[in-house]
Amino acid sequence: MSKVKLMEQVVDWITEAAREVKQKLEHPLLVEEKSNRHDLVTNVDKETEKFLVEKIRAHYPNDLILGEEGLGDTISDTKGRIWLIDPIDGTLNFVKQQENFCIMIGIFEDNEPVLGFIYDVIKNEFAYGGKETGVFLNGEPIKKIENIGLKDGLIGINSGMFAKNFSNAQNIGFEAVGIRMLGCAGLDFLNILRGKQNGYISHLAPWDFAAGVALGIPLGLKCSKFDGSDYSILDGRQYFVVATEKTYQDIFK
Ligand code: IPD
Ligand code: CA
Ligand code: CA
Repeated sequence: MSKVKLMEQVVDWITEAAREVKQKLEHPLLVEEKSNRHDLVTNVDKETEKFLVEKIRAHYPNDLILGEEGLGDTISDTKGRIWLIDPIDGTLNFVKQQENFCIMIGIFEDNEPVLGFIYDVIKNEFAYGGKETGVFLNGEPIKKIENIGLKDGLIGINSGMFAKNFSNAQNIGFEAVGIRMLGCAGLDFLNILRGKQNGYISHLAPWDFAAGVALGIPLGLKCSKFDGSDYSILDGRQYFVVATEKTYQDIFK
């Protein structure tokens, strides 16, 4: 199947999932703590992952899936096609604000990011595509992202990393025009893709960055671990940076 057809199919699945999520927001959420009171999961996170995993299993039974809520597979190598699912990214926003969250899927083949999908469900902003298909925002191609430097834009920084001044995160932030803490990795990526923010530094699991790298790399964004080494979809949470090329260079100065 061509990448365009695959992209269109996943756009349809996520559009359907988003419609369900909006409807479910009209009813009380079942909220549980995962590791602590800052780490929540809801019935909607689990049901959305189930919906997407079932679609993938039905159409592509040989593919592997890494899903945040654990309905996928255990991944130990990067061969073949791997789907990385974050069914609700920004769960604390989802629970407390009922907005500022998104659905994300990243698809990797033999360790290369090939397609990404980030859907801001409430704003109806949907970025999707990859290096073969081109990258789209609500059906319109994103042709390029202006290559602005750190001091000319807004930078997203994970609040914990900023508070602890992890690897000079505070000084990096103060160099920018301003610092943003959105509580939703996917929306930081979406802002960068839309030219509204020039970078994002955080502590992310593979499903938090897979969609964003597949969308950002074809448009010239730089993505790596925060020490400059390659990110890995096999590792757990990793300190991560995505930025325009100039901002990336400024960060490492
Ligand atoms: C979290 C959000 C948050 C980021 C965390 C993620 P979740 O995802 O993207 O912004 O700082 O690292 O875990 O748990 O809401 O899907
Ligand atoms: Ca999530
Ligand atoms: Ca997430």
